[in-house]
Amino acid sequence: MLPTLSNCNSATKSSDNESMIESSPIEEIPVGKDLISKSDCMSCHQEDKKIVGPSFLDIAKKYKADKKNIDYLSSKVIKGGKGVWGQIPMNAHPNLSKKNTDKIVTYILSIRE
Ligand code: HEC
Repeated sequence: MLPTLSNCNSATKSSDNESMIESSPIEEIPVGKDLISKSDCMSCHQEDKKIVGPSFLDIAKKYKADKKNIDYLSSKVIKGGKGVWGQIPMNAHPNLSKKNTDKIVTYILSIRE
């Protein structure tokens, strides 16, 4: 008993609407970047070069993006301070909310070479 093999020779390719799944960065990252550009950060920081303050890349290398570090850096941005990277102080940013500095710090810690 031979089974009947039916070959489906449809030559027409059905349109492939499968969308590529891209690695979606968590939504905080573009928001954080935007907040930085609206604040004074870039007058003392650059992404990959030390100017007055450490580069964001150096900060990202130093701190793992966990909750403890994000909390610490976030309140440091709000309160300002010195002594970690040198004796030049960072100014305080009392106008920024912790919610926003969390987003900013999440962005900074996501920067990679
Ligand atoms: C007046 C210059 C200045 C401005 C403006 C400034 N920073 Fe800084 N920032 C510094 C300096 C200097 C340090 C190093 C402080 C230290 O050694 O503890 C620093 C350190 C940091 C650190 C690392 C802190 C640590 O303890 O390791 C982060 C994160 C940071 N800045 C983010 C920001 C963000 C975000 C803004 C904008 C809202 C900003 N900075 C604006 C000068 C500045």
